Amino acid sequence: MSNPQAAIAPELDHVALLMDRVESSADANAKALSSTVLSPRFYTTDFAAMDRLDISPVRAEWDAMMKEYEGDNNHDHFQRDAAFAEEVRTLMPQLSPEMRQEFLDFLISSLTSEFSGCILYNEIRKNISNPDIKALMTYMARDESRHAGFINQSLKDFDLGIDLGSLKRTKAYTYFKPKYIFYATYLSEKIGYARYITIFRQLERHPDKRFHPIFRWFERWCNDEFRHGESFALIMRAQPQLLRGVNKLWIRFFILAVYATMYVRDHSRPMLHEAMGLHSTEYDYTVFRITSEICRQVFPVEVDIDHPVFRASMDRLLALSLAHAKAKARGGIVGRLQAAGYALQATMTFGRLFLLPVKTNTLPEQIRFEPAW
Ligand SMILES: [Fe+2]
Ligand SMILES: [Fe+2]
Repeated sequence: MSNPQAAIAPELDHVALLMDRVESSADANAKALSSTVLSPRFYTTDFAAMDRLDISPVRAEWDAMMKEYEGDNNHDHFQRDAAFAEEVRTLMPQLSPEMRQEFLDFLISSLTSEFSGCILYNEIRKNISNPDIKALMTYMARDESRHAGFINQSLKDFDLGIDLGSLKRTKAYTYFKPKYIFYATYLSEKIGYARYITIFRQLERHPDKRFHPIFRWFERWCNDEFRHGESFALIMRAQPQLLRGVNKLWIRFFILAVYATMYVRDHSRPMLHEAMGLHSTEYDYTVFRITSEICRQVFPVEVDIDHPVFRASMDRLLALSLAHAKAKARGGIVGRLQAAGYALQATMTFGRLFLLPVKTNTLPEQIRFEPAW
């Protein structure tokens, strides 16, 4: 394998183990439905607690943000232009079968994340009466529904459209207390921004590597995600107790969990990044760097992504995840015991990451940032 990643993780030859093949619409729907450690989840929360949120400490910045939502500068963005179909028709047959699988995996996991936001925001909206939070959730659900629908159109080009109604009814929901929703959703919105803008900037520099027209939409798209993240930043800054004491440990936990999941997931589709002229490891560290910079608006702690133990632990978690998948595929008592052993080692590796020293941030007086990356 000429892949430079082979140097850090020889098991990468077996990455396909982490990714079930998608050959039919049933496979695509099953993939969206599956709940694994690495796949995007659906969430539910304590609506009464959401209803009690008070954003008055950040009122001025909140109102300015709500005006932007109201202005809806992306209302006409998520429609295909005349060139879209032609690009799909000429570019898609050039993808190798493996590359096609990685791209489908990317589309399905992105769609599931977008739709997960759509459902959560919609459920909160329906179950509360607090006017500030209700208005926010209405706007964010609107945006996520457009994003999910736009990706689904591209899956339908492959005859692999996801039945969103059925997914909503049948996928498992994870309950998170509101504060965990804030940490996790803030991070996923900001990481979503960082991922989309990094891809967009790369393909802006190398348009010959843009193998699907959907990437042309990413710049304005990721500004929606950026603003969604801003909303959660304001909610958390309005409740400073969420950013103090033992909660700093929760913040550290969520940052590491989100970064590690992304690292393992992205390295299971290395061809996708190579086709764009990106290396998965470099791409992920660029995304970590952007996300960490943005998070200074709200998180009092920051993980040290350049610490040698951080870097080694990410690679270790990847190797363990691959070994775990291999052991599970092997099956039987031996396979199960091996898999349990790898899961334990992964937990210990994560524990080591958690014990690494963190950097501390003084939170800026003006909370909101511009999407300037
Ligand atoms: Fe989105
Ligand atoms: Fe979003």
